[in-house]
Amino acid sequence: MRSKVLLLSLLAAVAARHPEAPTHSKLRNLPPINAAEFTADYWYNEARAAIEKRSKRDPDQNVARNLIMFLGDGMSIPTLAAARALKGQKLDRTGEEEELFFESFPGLGLAKTYCVNQQIADSACTATAYLCGVKNNYGTTGVTAAVSRRNCEASLLETNRVESIAEWALAAGKDVGIVTTTRVTHASPSGVYAKSADRHWENDAEIISDSNDPERCVDIARQLIQMNPGQQLKVILGGGRREFLPNTTFDDEGGQGFRTDGQNLIEQWQQDKSDRDLSHDYVWNRDQLMNHFDSPPEYLLGLFENSHMQYHLEANATTEPTLEEMTEIAIKMLSRNEKGFFLFVEGGRIDHAHHDNYVHIALDETLQFEKAVEKAAGILPEDDTLIVVTADHAHVMAYNGYTARGSPIYGLSDEKDTDGMPYMTISYTNGPGARTQVNGIRDDIRQDGNFGENRWRAHVEFPLEDETHGGDDVAVFARGPHYRLFAGLYEQSQIPHVMAYVGCIGPGPHAPGCNAATTLHVTGLVLLLSVVKLILL
Ligand SMILES: *[C@@H]1O[C@H](CO)[C@@H](O)[C@H](O)[C@H]1NC(C)=O
Ligand SMILES: *[C@@H]1O[C@H](CO)[C@@H](O)[C@H](O)[C@H]1NC(C)=O
Ligand SMILES: [Zn+2]
Repeated sequence: MRSKVLLLSLLAAVAARHPEAPTHSKLRNLPPINAAEFTADYWYNEARAAIEKRSKRDPDQNVARNLIMFLGDGMSIPTLAAARALKGQKLDRTGEEEELFFESFPGLGLAKTYCVNQQIADSACTATAYLCGVKNNYGTTGVTAAVSRRNCEASLLETNRVESIAEWALAAGKDVGIVTTTRVTHASPSGVYAKSADRHWENDAEIISDSNDPERCVDIARQLIQMNPGQQLKVILGGGRREFLPNTTFDDEGGQGFRTDGQNLIEQWQQDKSDRDLSHDYVWNRDQLMNHFDSPPEYLLGLFENSHMQYHLEANATTEPTLEEMTEIAIKMLSRNEKGFFLFVEGGRIDHAHHDNYVHIALDETLQFEKAVEKAAGILPEDDTLIVVTADHAHVMAYNGYTARGSPIYGLSDEKDTDGMPYMTISYTNGPGARTQVNGIRDDIRQDGNFGENRWRAHVEFPLEDETHGGDDVAVFARGPHYRLFAGLYEQSQIPHVMAYVGCIGPGPHAPGCNAATTLHVTGLVLLLSVVKLILL
């Protein structure tokens, strides 16, 4: 019985979202991809040249001690515009004139999100771009495009493995943390700490089912708990307990583990910190997390769900912290390091709601994400903290029609289609919300039993089990030192290089202010000594 349940959930986990990239049609002769793109150097050099060019027009002398990347998964530009209208309309305003908090940031650019082998990206190849500064293949994390999907052996070659900005931060003595509403082993956060030929290799069973050896290619959960840089993360908050527990055990809320190697990685994490005499705690619900709010331990692991955390609109308030709460506690913890920190915060379920055409949930998750950014910006001073807010890829939600000013964002367009049927201001080009037509005419969506409810699926053009990502550019907002460097249209893989430039970490180049920042203490001391000398004389 249990194994049947596990098998079903495993199958569901493997199938579901982000299907395999389709093999290219044999009928078409695609132009070859530039082989140089298969190396990390190509993307490093591309970013360096861009930084050199843009920095000529950047007068900023400050550098950033703290770096935060806020990632709205699937937060396309139409998603921002619609969420902005929703925000205003919740306050009884017309809405269109409203602004999401981070939309007032002084730096704004656009990033191109394609991957090396794919026009329209997934969250794994984009995570490698915006966290490791290298574009690679669809479905792969932390490795170059020399690694094709599921090629375990290629992913083990040192030249094919790339470092993340988190590793650069750690090498500079900074602290690192991750906060997400998805499983902490999911594609986006995995870019912080994992190298994997497949994003689905979150536990050993997934690797075995792909006919690979989990002892050779270690799963993503084990990489987080047993290896570097995962082992060094001070704070890890999100969902995904099942990836850390044996399939013979159940978590505190009754969810079954997925591991078949018998390893309990939550216990291992606790043991590792105990062995090293480090203050630490593992929490699995909001109440336990909030108990730590005033004086969190040095290391904190919080896994609030068996899989992803609940959508905010549906969340149980005693078990699920908000993204804002998790972000605040993470900043509290990381701020204790005077050398600063790198924090990755993901609003990860904007994407999931879009995949289901749950537009009410997608926009609400976007507003929750906004609150987390606002909280962070309120705590951290602008002169030494660089905050970058962006998305990994777009979605196919359209904001359409010629609706009158102030019309409800979830409402009908003022016009009807050519069959005389009403349509919505927000619809999707594809997804599970497609209705069967009657006599060649669309259904009247207003007749849907759950019309207007959270899980009402928006109106869709053509049927797919899961709505797809979009290939359009995503916005990049920046506040803090050198925000001007984020202006323009550029490859997504430039983002971590620019952040590292401003934060004086990584292989370089570094901002001119970086030298000043390291000599500041010395200069200060020399100055103080001269003053003392003067007084004594
Ligand atoms: C756990 O996984 C192993 C290996 O796939 C399998 O043989 C076993 O039946 C599973 N146990 C449970 C309780 O599902
Ligand atoms: C929230 O979760 C707690 C703990 O599992 C449970 O006791 C409570 O009934 C839940 N509340 C709601 C509203 O579901
Ligand atoms: Zn997605």
